[in-house]
Amino acid sequence: MKGIVLAGGSGSRLYPITKIYSKQLALIYDKPLIYYPLSILMLGGIREILIISNKETIPWYQGLFGDGKHLGLTIEYVLQDAPNGIAESFLLGEKFIGDDSVTLILGDNIFYGNLDFFYRALKQKDGATIFGYRVNDPERYGIVEFDAVGKALSIEEKPAQPKSPYAVPGLYIYDNDVVGISKALKPSPRGELEITDVNKEYLCRNKLAVQKIGRGVAWLDTGTPEALLQASYFFGVIEDRQGLKVACLEEIAYHQRFISHDQFVEVISALPKSLYRSYLERILQEE
Ligand code: DAU
Repeated sequence: MKGIVLAGGSGSRLYPITKIYSKQLALIYDKPLIYYPLSILMLGGIREILIISNKETIPWYQGLFGDGKHLGLTIEYVLQDAPNGIAESFLLGEKFIGDDSVTLILGDNIFYGNLDFFYRALKQKDGATIFGYRVNDPERYGIVEFDAVGKALSIEEKPAQPKSPYAVPGLYIYDNDVVGISKALKPSPRGELEITDVNKEYLCRNKLAVQKIGRGVAWLDTGTPEALLQASYFFGVIEDRQGLKVACLEEIAYHQRFISHDQFVEVISALPKSLYRSYLERILQEE
């Protein structure tokens, strides 16, 4: 299973920071936003990762993650010239995906809580798995409609009259057919290759599983300044209460055994003196 983080876009709602780089570098409490979606792929055991972004932001990601080796990952980068749509990920990532299946996560999507829904879905070998999450403002998202037994009936992108309150979060698991399906897509009226059109094609082929995510999981939005602030408070409260960090990539790499004890020690000793380093030193001691 390969993993893609799509982390570019225009981010006009977060201007002026997006004048210099894309919003996935904005701080959510104590670390850049992109750490959160990247941590989800790592927790799913995915170690080969492609980050797609624009030319302004790729150098910043490279500065943060390099080739990923210190995290026990292989991280590659591909340029997206313009925000041509989420499904363009599979065209830009074709070579990276090869013959494999792929999980795509949007670089501004945050999940927190029990991730069993994701771990279960990763075991699925065939077709596509997407998720449904109840929201208060369905007209802002891709929306899935279910029948009485919970089978997906339709998917619509930002419908004016949503048929259900279930939004499709930016976490998608596909078999290798996704590359061919994306190649056949035509741009939508807003000029984008729509991920919703990919999902509709899987639905049409009867190969789409849609799993509902329950209320015990937080799926946070980070599209506006208010949403960024709320997400920062959310993680500030949790981290302060527990004394444990969320989405600390070095810690996850160690716990997932992507890196050995010695490598973990080495990674920590290469960090500058900081709260982040002190945290990792404590984690090491507490082992
Ligand atoms: O967040 C989940 C929603 O994401 C889904 O429910 C919708 O079906 C899906 O279309 C998408 O909707 P958004 O309108 O929120 O997508 P947005 O254009 O904001 O892009 C999501 C992220 O992906 C954002 O961080 C920017 C990045 N992006 C987006 C596009 C279109 C890119 O890097 N390149 C792109 O071409």
